Order: sequence, then C-alpha cells, then structure tokens
Amino acid sequence: MIKILAIVGTYRKGGIIDSAVDEILSVVEENGGQTEKIYLIDKHIEFCTNCRKCTQSEGEHYGRCFHNDDMEEILQKIENADGLVLASPVNFYNVTAVMRRFIERLVCFAYWPWGKAGAPKLRSKIRSKKAVIVTATAMPAIMQQLFTGAPRILKSIAKLLGAKKIDSLIIGMIAVNERETLPEKYVQKARKAGQRLTV
Ligand SMILES: Cc1cc2nc3c(=O)[nH]c(=O)nc-3n(C[C@H](O)[C@H](O)[C@H](O)COP(=O)(O)O)c2cc1C
Repeated sequence: MIKILAIVGTYRKGGIIDSAVDEILSVVEENGGQTEKIYLIDKHIEFCTNCRKCTQSEGEHYGRCFHNDDMEEILQKIENADGLVLASPVNFYNVTAVMRRFIERLVCFAYWPWGKAGAPKLRSKIRSKKAVIVTATAMPAIMQQLFTGAPRILKSIAKLLGAKKIDSLIIGMIAVNERETLPEKYVQKARKAGQRLTV
C-alpha cells in the first residue's frame, strides 16, 4: 500500500493550504493509499543552531542532531513514506516561519565537515519518492512564481528528502475573505496531483 505523508506549514487548520492538502490526500485514500498529515505548528521543533554536528560524519543516512525534539519522529515518517506533500502559505515572499524552522533542521541531509571549503554535499542522490508542493498567495499565481521563493525552496527540499517533484499546486489570488473555500479550479488541480501521487 502506498504511503503519502503531508508536511504542512500553515497556521490555519481548515484554511486554504489545509483544504488543498486534504483534497490531494482524499484522492490518495480513494485509490487505496494510506495518508498522514503533520501540522508543523503542533510539533516541538527546536531552531537549528548552525553547530553542524549533524553534517560532520560521512554516509548516506542523515546525521544526528543534539536536540531532543519531534524532528527524529518526523524524519522517520519521511523515510517510510513513498510520497510527500510539502505545503506552506507564502508569508512575506517565502514559506512560513514554522516551515522555515523545519527546513533549517534538514541540513542533516548534507555532508559538510568543518575545515573543507565549498558547498554542502547532498548525502544521497537517490530520488525514489514522489513529491507534490503546495503554496498559496494573495498575489496571482504567476507573480508568486516570479517574485517569491516559496515554490523554489519546497522543490529543493523535496530533492533533499529523496523525492522528485511531480506536480505543484501554486494557488494565487486567495486571502480575500476571512473564511475562504478553495476555488474549484484548484480543487481539480489538487485532485489531479493526488492521482499522480498514486499511479
Ligand atoms: C503575515 C502574512 C504575510 C503574508 N505575505 C504575503 C506575501 O508576501 N505575498 C502574498 O501574496 N500573500 C501574502 N500573505 C497572504 C497569505 O499568503 C495567505 O493568507 C495564505 O496563503 C493563506 O493560506 P492559509 O489559508 O493556509 O492560511 C500574507 C499573509 C500574512 C498573514
């Protein structure tokens, strides 16, 4: 049975991002898949301190962090998933702070020892999982792609986590009303993305 894990960086359960993720996951379930959704706001995730202990030892497996929080449990779930949904609203031109805090902790997927010049090296180039990314803005979708870093950072995070981005749901022109429902065209796009995750 295919397992899809959603990692959600919204602050509003039942908001636009959450609804889009639910549509994707419901299609996965209709197709017999198993789903789980993690709201990052519900998790205890400490800030990365840039100590780089987790990047010092070589090897394919992610390095250990000294923090004792919920990150290890989340990373285990990622490892056991066949596909990922990475989702965040766009706040001030990028993913939310709670998503960013999670992302910074993913430096453990790089080998980056002290004393060696150069960029961090991705521990593994294997990309056996599928990923769908979901972002939302008040600005039109095309502007979101051109002027914000959110779709780009979620795509690069998918790669870091061993996944290939197969679809993206770039939601624009929302945030007009306090209680907004996901527009029908995005419901359809979300359902297609769910379908692509399960085939
Ligand atoms: C603090 C804050 C910053 C925001 N920054 C942007 C922005 O830079 N560009 C944009 O188009 N929308 C921006 N928005 C609108 C949000 O992207 C929009 O409300 C969100 O995608 C809705 O997702 P949600 O329903 O999951 O909360 C911002 C909203 C807030 C509250």
